[in-house]
Amino acid sequence: MATPRVCVAGATGYLGTRVVAALRSRGLEVTAIVRNQIESPALRTLVRLGASIAAVDAACKGSYEPVLANIDVAISCLASRNAGQEMANDFWAIDRDATLRFGRTAVACGARHVMLVATFEGPASRRQSEFSDAKEQAVDGVRLACQTAHVALTVIRPTAYFSDLTDRAFDSIAKHHRYTQIGDGSHRINPIDGDDVAEFICNHLNPDVALDREYPIGGPDIMTFHEIGCLAAECLGTQGTLRFRSVPIAALRLLAALAGGAGKLSRRWRQSAAILNWMIYAGTHDAVALRTGRRHLQSVFAAKSSDLESRRSVPGSFKP
Ligand SMILES: NC(=O)c1ccc[n+]([C@@H]2O[C@H](COP(=O)([O-])OP(=O)(O)OC[C@H]3O[C@@H](n4cnc5c(N)ncnc54)[C@H](OP(=O)(O)O)[C@@H]3O)[C@@H](O)[C@H]2O)c1
Repeated sequence: MATPRVCVAGATGYLGTRVVAALRSRGLEVTAIVRNQIESPALRTLVRLGASIAAVDAACKGSYEPVLANIDVAISCLASRNAGQEMANDFWAIDRDATLRFGRTAVACGARHVMLVATFEGPASRRQSEFSDAKEQAVDGVRLACQTAHVALTVIRPTAYFSDLTDRAFDSIAKHHRYTQIGDGSHRINPIDGDDVAEFICNHLNPDVALDREYPIGGPDIMTFHEIGCLAAECLGTQGTLRFRSVPIAALRLLAALAGGAGKLSRRWRQSAAILNWMIYAGTHDAVALRTGRRHLQSVFAAKSSDLESRRSVPGSFKP
């Protein structure tokens, strides 16, 4: 492939924005697929980066065909935003069905390479969580389409993004001096920065042949979940006041069972059960992958901490 034309679905998300930035910094032509063209900081960033913008609302089952004509590499960073989404936007609709439609349409339109971002623990936890199973069904379906058409498939499985840890753990410690962990927080993980995942994707755009590859990837530091809480408090200078709140696994299992029961009557409860089961799996297994990233969580925590500090010094502007 000479200079590939690339398309990114889920371009306004944490990873998608970074993937578009990394591709553009290499001078590549990029089409960023967004949900709609309503003005937002993420959309402004994509425009500033020089990406072409195309809108496809996956919840409305919009067609990807017009966007994917003349594309060499199709990358999906799609994800439903949260649990508790209405049916058209839940993980079955977005992580499974929209990802499948995107991948299959890319193959049908002549893409030579499809790249999917999936979860690290998906293959092992799919029998325990409908959330993992939905995401893996998308991988299975796109894989079949790629194999049949001799199109290259790359599945990237990051452990966890820094955003997950900064948005929840760090902010909770900054605001409440409290860190919540599942069980005793002794399971290990090497989380990865989104910019490192984006770089990894850019370095794997051009497979020599139509290969089917999976890459579980992580960051440079392996830590327990407990240590991640300590690190955030250390960067904030609040080690002395940090309180740990441990959510017992047994309580999560009970909640998941109750939600599963209610899930026989309502799709919302099925969603909650699936997410709880996925949390139980993630909280009771190590997630350690090849150390691919080079950015450190400590630097991100330190940057967030000094940002907070400078906002605190401006009277009336402190918002953790
Ligand atoms: N978070 C982690 O730690 C982690 C770890 C491993 C793997 N992953 C995987 O990495 C991928 C990217 O994750 P992320 O954290 O970057 O996700 P994210 O920030 O939640 O972004 C999701 C993207 O999907 C888009 N989207 C959702 N519903 C849509 C709809 N109806 N129509 C069109 N677009 C829609 C969102 O658009 P809007 O901006 O309009 O909502 C956004 O651009 C996912 O496959 C995720 O499972 C995540």
